[in-house]
Amino acid sequence: MVQIFLDSANLQEIEEALSWGVISGITTNPSLMSKEAEPFELLVKKICSLMQSNPVSVEVLSTVAEGMVKEARHLAGQAPNIVVKIPMGIEGLKAVYRLNRGEEKIPCNVTLVFSVNQALLAARAGASYISPFIGRLDDIGWDGVGLVREIVEVFSRQGINNTRVIAASIRHPRHVHEVAAAGAHIATVPFSVLKQMARHPLTDIGVERFLSDWARARGGEGIGH
Ligand code: E4P
Repeated sequence: MVQIFLDSANLQEIEEALSWGVISGITTNPSLMSKEAEPFELLVKKICSLMQSNPVSVEVLSTVAEGMVKEARHLAGQAPNIVVKIPMGIEGLKAVYRLNRGEEKIPCNVTLVFSVNQALLAARAGASYISPFIGRLDDIGWDGVGLVREIVEVFSRQGINNTRVIAASIRHPRHVHEVAAAGAHIATVPFSVLKQMARHPLTDIGVERFLSDWARARGGEGIGH
């Protein structure tokens, strides 16, 4: 079953979403982290502890492999459920490869993926996750959901089983059910979209009508009192 991750670094949003019992992980990025007042490392630790053993993606800031590896090792030391987010590119591939050979094996989420070839290279280098950004592709007139569908199909035909596809940059609830239908393993959604997913105007109207019918016929009678 498709998993839902929350794309947020906000502790209140994370706690609220956790209480719904629907999220299985967190993704963050430097833009999301920069909006929060907490010092970076404290925030990372708090998010990881709230999520218990579920994965929390935190992105490196360096743009060269050496620096990415150093930052990744530091982040991985903060909590056991850290997944290091590495931007796609040649330096990123080198970093993922180094972090996944030998005994070290730090799980990586290769981010900013916009093509099947980028997804293939990231999987080959050893990424545990890849994140195609569908909203940003739609923004430039391409088909974000179509990219997710193609990646899932190619991974399946090629027997790529160790890299999970996270549909990212989700803009609205329709994106979520479309990437689920396309076979994404995970959809990472902003809290605003998660709330929209749970609601429907006909649900609200339905509840209102049931309660007013009951009140009209049975006054103040309740259940259990
Ligand atoms: C995913 O991991 C990213 O944090 C996120 O989905 C980016 O989305 P945006 O295009 O809305 O910034």
